Amino acid sequence: MTASDIAARFERRFGQSPRTFRAPGRVNLIGEHTDYNEGFVMPAAVQFSTYVAIAPRADGKLLIHSEQFPGDLEFDADRLPQQRTGAWCDYVLGVAAVLQKRGVDIAGANILVHGDVPIGAGLSSSAAIEVASALALMSLSSTQLPLPEIAKLCRRAENEFVGARVGIMDQFVSCMGKAGHAFFLDCRSLDYKLVPIPSGIELVVCNTKVKHDLATGEYNRRREECEEGVRRFAKWNPTIHALRDVSVEMLHQHVRDLPEIIAKRCTHIVLENQRTLEAADALAAGDLARLGTLMRESHDSLRDLYEVSCRELDIMVDSAEGLPGFIGGRMTGGGFGGCTINLVREEDAENFAAQIADRYRKATGIEPQTYLCTAEDGAREISLSPSAR
Ligand code: GLA
Repeated sequence: MTASDIAARFERRFGQSPRTFRAPGRVNLIGEHTDYNEGFVMPAAVQFSTYVAIAPRADGKLLIHSEQFPGDLEFDADRLPQQRTGAWCDYVLGVAAVLQKRGVDIAGANILVHGDVPIGAGLSSSAAIEVASALALMSLSSTQLPLPEIAKLCRRAENEFVGARVGIMDQFVSCMGKAGHAFFLDCRSLDYKLVPIPSGIELVVCNTKVKHDLATGEYNRRREECEEGVRRFAKWNPTIHALRDVSVEMLHQHVRDLPEIIAKRCTHIVLENQRTLEAADALAAGDLARLGTLMRESHDSLRDLYEVSCRELDIMVDSAEGLPGFIGGRMTGGGFGGCTINLVREEDAENFAAQIADRYRKATGIEPQTYLCTAEDGAREISLSPSAR
């Protein structure tokens, strides 16, 4: 989708020419469920994106339109809902409400949303719509905020308005990702490092095409279990504020004193943080064999200790083993369905995608989808200047 395609759709619907903003979805290479434990993650922004086009309205109304969902939705900008409405545009509304609370003037506007991030596939379609909406809404009041600030506002919209207790990873990489790079992020300090993805490596994303209902409930439950782990470690050592602070030694010292479920969750988080640190070094050093091993260990830990995988994800991960050009793979995102991420040598990538799809189809009877992804830049305005149209 190009800026002029979006502008043409907007003009057809509203008879105005808009400013247009794009924000990408993401894949996570490693560091799963570590973000809300103030740990480390290494995602990359990908080409799948949400586009939000906007132009002012004089009557103080927000009119939100998408060709992908039926019916336009209309709200008074000075009486926005403060909680999820259940409509598809909740992410736009949530961001508008949070911006307003922060003192940003939200005036009347026509808004068009168009997304090509597969929904429910764990590729962060929600962060993409939040971030693109934030940039679009802010443009009308000429508000400028640093991108990390925008990422935090968008996460707040998802936590407080939509009611999903997500961490900062998705919004942050959607804002700040860089083409050709993995984005290593310390979710406590928000310091980050761009790690180049060596040329000749493809990110092959494989969609299981299943999404089990328990995803949101189990996600919030995992957070509570981690919080319980923190409370217990803090009794032994008051300097512990998050599982990020628990060292491998401390874990081994106390793991037998924890209830079984809490012990499993804590073990995953502490070791996943170590794996993510090591994976960033391995990627930077071009040690792809080590990176592949760490990705496989991450998957096994998510399956056995954190228990957020599912049969279909496990089959997809196992189906990659032994295929030509395969470097490493694992489930990506929150889990309970969605996608796996595979690092594959470029020359083998298409054949890999065909063969893994074949193996998965035979094992499950489900037709999967595969995408050859590239690491892309984070969110930005993509409007063409009037003279370029
Ligand atoms: C979802 C959340 C993220 C992160 C991942 C799991 O994508 O939005 O914040 O917690 O799950 O790593």
